[in-house]
Amino acid sequence: MLRLDGKIAFITGAGSVGEGWGNGRAIAVLLARQGATVFATDIDIAAAEATLAIITGEGGSGAVKRCDMTDGNAVKDAVDDCLARYRRIDILVNNVGGSVPGDPVTMDEAVWDRQMDLNLKTVFLTCKHVLPVMRQQGAGVIVNIASVAGIRDAPDRNYVAYAASKAGVIRISKAIAMANAKVGIRCNAVLPGLMNTPLVTHRLVRDIGGNDAERLIAERNARVPLGRMGDAWDVAHAVLFLVADEARYITATEIVVDGGLTATRS
Ligand SMILES: NC(=O)c1ccc[n+]([C@@H]2O[C@H](COP(=O)([O-])OP(=O)(O)OC[C@H]3O[C@@H](n4cnc5c(N)ncnc54)[C@H](O)[C@@H]3O)[C@@H](O)[C@H]2O)c1
Repeated sequence: MLRLDGKIAFITGAGSVGEGWGNGRAIAVLLARQGATVFATDIDIAAAEATLAIITGEGGSGAVKRCDMTDGNAVKDAVDDCLARYRRIDILVNNVGGSVPGDPVTMDEAVWDRQMDLNLKTVFLTCKHVLPVMRQQGAGVIVNIASVAGIRDAPDRNYVAYAASKAGVIRISKAIAMANAKVGIRCNAVLPGLMNTPLVTHRLVRDIGGNDAERLIAERNARVPLGRMGDAWDVAHAVLFLVADEARYITATEIVVDGGLTATRS
């Protein structure tokens, strides 16, 4: 079930923003456990190498490439490198992304632009260079990591650029799915909710948590109907399902991984 033997998976942001399991690292390791060969890109090469070390330590295989996924030339170079090594790309997971709080009044224009580049342009750029490969193969599957922020607003916080860019990720996923449905390519989005990844202690505690990690974690847990945040493995398992052949009839849609959060009003 859900085996990926012989598949080449190109995964962006496959490191982790801090020690432990970020979404990108868990996705890379889980897909490798299921038999995929992982081409792991990250702007932080040491983080990607740490992911690859876990994969090879478990008997899997792959390669790493330092790449700023907001840079079109660098993305093309990474795709070319992957093709030179493996000759094909069966799976593309766009995981790079991150949030900066702020509304249009408080947010600098440059921050808005960087959020759009990091969350949305990165998806455009990989698809620009990977879709021709998948079209030639007559097969391929793409999963884009969006966020529940793309469909729902937190009542007490404003993340205007993150919300807009992740809504864009959901829409571009459907548009790509529809444009490529006849040529054997599927494309879907995964929408994580409040996840307990290294991001929480790495950045959120500083940005919105008043430097009190324990309080922030308790507060995030309490907001979720299942009573706790999810983790990177919850995201990774949704990705695994969508990239596997068992999901062959699923395209142009999304899986919400949020413990029921979006069904609540708060
Ligand atoms: N953590 C959450 O609570 C949460 C919730 C909803 C959505 N998400 C989404 O999940 C994805 C992963 O988030 P995460 O918090 O697990 O992070 P993560 O631990 O997967 O780390 C992201 C990785 O991307 C890399 N990266 C950053 N900028 C890059 C760039 N320009 N080019 C290449 N690599 C770059 C970082 O070095 C890091 O290794 C993001 O798209 C995020 O928006 C996360």
